[in-house]
Amino acid sequence: MYANENLPIVRTPVTVPTLQAMKDRGERIATLTAYDASFARAMDAAGIDAVLVGDSLGMVIQGAGNTVSVSVDDMIYHSRCVANGLQSALLIADMPFQSYSDPDRALTVAARLLAEGRAGMVKLEGAGFVLEAIEYLSARDIPVCAHLGLTPQSVLKLGGFKVQGRDAGDAEAILAQARQVEQAGAQLLVLECMPSELAKKITLAAGIPTIGIGAGPDCDGQILVCYDALGINSGHRRPRFVKDFLAGNASIEAAFRQYVGDVKQAAFPAAEHGYT
Ligand code: KIV
Repeated sequence: MYANENLPIVRTPVTVPTLQAMKDRGERIATLTAYDASFARAMDAAGIDAVLVGDSLGMVIQGAGNTVSVSVDDMIYHSRCVANGLQSALLIADMPFQSYSDPDRALTVAARLLAEGRAGMVKLEGAGFVLEAIEYLSARDIPVCAHLGLTPQSVLKLGGFKVQGRDAGDAEAILAQARQVEQAGAQLLVLECMPSELAKKITLAAGIPTIGIGAGPDCDGQILVCYDALGINSGHRRPRFVKDFLAGNASIEAAFRQYVGDVKQAAFPAAEHGYT
């Protein structure tokens, strides 16, 4: 009998430098979205590296058709709920639509997400005018995750949730944006819905870790909306990058463990989950 048999396994906290070190040694980063303490606790126990409180909560929790109606207070509430369930994983919180359109407002909102929502990093979508906010926050010691490719907060302008960077000009523009967000101080980069080859090119060129969703198998890490990873779909057509990890598993905990294992061993995503 081992002396510590009944003690819970204590993992060291995952920090922003931990994720950088994982990229540097070629270890894949497993992340999922979460919106409440119970799911966060199950993911943490399964060994997830980071949990994103995504503004996707507007769709999967609140039932809206997109993310633009999510408020700062919604984000803080759900971030605090998730923080209560985490022991080890890094908590990343989305900055909602128009909350970072000027740097001073961005600072106010990001500081609230860190202090009241207990996040360890904030995520902003896009480049262009957003670069100023990324630079402003990171110069003030607020860790920033950037998000390129399909940026769901732009859905009204884009006219739908569409794969980005398919033609050569768009691909070059996204590659340039990736350089710009890193230069502005972003320490993590989400790549959403773009051809796998483009995400691979960005990942090889980037000094910071990339986390893909619908961006193929060659990113430094992966993320899925947790409901998608459990096969719960709210009436929408299932995108090709989604896999139901609950199918074939007896519990949600086991499904999360399989997701973490499959990401770490590069078994997910497979080529069929990517775009050309
Ligand atoms: O809001 C969200 O859940 C996200 C992920 C899809 C990356 O931004």
